[in-house]
Amino acid sequence: METDATIEDLDAPTGAPTNDRVAEGPKKVFVKTYGCQMNVYDSQRMSDALAADGYSSTEKIEDADLILLNTCHIREKAAEKVYSELGRLRQMKNERALQGREMLVGVTGCVAQAEGSEILRRAPAVDLVVGPQTYHRLPDVVKKARSGRRIVETEYAIEDKFEHLPQPKRAELARRGVTAFLTVQEGCDKFCTFCVVPYTRGSEVSRSVSQIVSEAERLAEAGVREVTLLGQNVNAWHGEGPDGTEWGLGRLLFRLAEIPGIARLRYTTSHPRDMDDDLIAAHRDLRVLMPYLHLPVQSGSDRILKAMNRQHKAADYLRLLDRIRQARPDIALSGDFIVGFPGESDADFEDTMRLVEEVQYASAYSFKYSPRPGTPGAEMSDHVPEDIKDDRLQKLQALLTRQQNEFAASLVGKTFETLIEKPGRKAGQVVGRSPWLQPVIVDESAGKIGDIVSVRITRLGTNSLYGEAVQGH
Ligand code: 5AD
Ligand code: SF4
Repeated sequence: METDATIEDLDAPTGAPTNDRVAEGPKKVFVKTYGCQMNVYDSQRMSDALAADGYSSTEKIEDADLILLNTCHIREKAAEKVYSELGRLRQMKNERALQGREMLVGVTGCVAQAEGSEILRRAPAVDLVVGPQTYHRLPDVVKKARSGRRIVETEYAIEDKFEHLPQPKRAELARRGVTAFLTVQEGCDKFCTFCVVPYTRGSEVSRSVSQIVSEAERLAEAGVREVTLLGQNVNAWHGEGPDGTEWGLGRLLFRLAEIPGIARLRYTTSHPRDMDDDLIAAHRDLRVLMPYLHLPVQSGSDRILKAMNRQHKAADYLRLLDRIRQARPDIALSGDFIVGFPGESDADFEDTMRLVEEVQYASAYSFKYSPRPGTPGAEMSDHVPEDIKDDRLQKLQALLTRQQNEFAASLVGKTFETLIEKPGRKAGQVVGRSPWLQPVIVDESAGKIGDIVSVRITRLGTNSLYGEAVQGH
């Protein structure tokens, strides 16, 4: 094993050439993100941790000395993509070796957690494997890997990783734009029978009110206008408020709404069982809480919901939506669906189609059931044949796409507030974001990035809306 002294030597200040190395610029890291928004957030925090250790981020893989794949394990396809990418990286690493250039490859995220050292066995290019609970140890792991060791770090840490992850510099936050993610909760104790999350992200952990508030304040000071609170089961978040009482997500949203500069709040992803009265009240009373809710139901069949261990019936979900819509009539709904869960009959699938007809979603994600090793679903009998899954998925997606288009069409002629987010693809245009997350394309005279302007929608684009600024609305 290398001694620490050797590791320090390797990390000698850059720009100071040593005998056997040519002068080089600062080290660069390239992070490729797969999967959910929490992975997007995590990738940024990993970059922040490495920045504190002298690594700058690059968007060009050719320039990187360290390549991290921040992976997703939710469905089989997602995990397989990682292995094929690692095959490509092996070739790149071999070419680099011929040029005498260092290239380290790391796997982070949920595949790292689920597969651990199996990744080192299957993918010779990989130098380090780090699970989501130990990102604060990443700089240390990278140091060790640079000394030639292959490292797997997937133990759940006892210390709070968020306490140890460095905050990004204000300029870096500003560079990331006017919308930001903020993880408030991680892990899941619900154990839906199809889902790997409780195994890859561990049991539910909530960050403290003070940590969340100070991170949100930093974001606001750097010019962020819209914050999306993240958690695998975000509405299970709870913590002790400054008044000593137990807070739920609803109370937290009220507190965050007080931060000057924060003009929009969102949260994702929720479980129907954790939508409590306070949270529904937040939808009623908080104008900054956007009228858009991602509330997955997965299936419309009570039999399948039971087999999935969702712990509610289809009618409970519909009743809940009634209450939420009463509280916030302009709310738009989004959901997740799985077709072809073991035992799903034609009649069960029809129940799902009926539920979708009833709800009228503004957007939705739907997937074919993918058995995940180690989950109860994978062990069930009566798996649905692939061609039937294909057929059901196609039917469901056709319906959901129709609803999504109808929702977008219903906005033509309407006026609403739009957050100007970035320059458009065409000169003279800027892209904003509607309260319901659609891109809204307007003339750049409408406002500058970070402004919230009233926009009247004039026509539909393919995946966007076109509009014009309305003065004095
Ligand atoms: N197969 C298919 N889809 C899944 N999801 C989670 N696990 C699986 C699986 N094994 C879907 C669910 C979840 C979304 C993030 O991914 O719909 O809400
Ligand atoms: Fe997975 Fe269910 Fe937990 Fe969501 S609630 S992360 S689907 S186990």
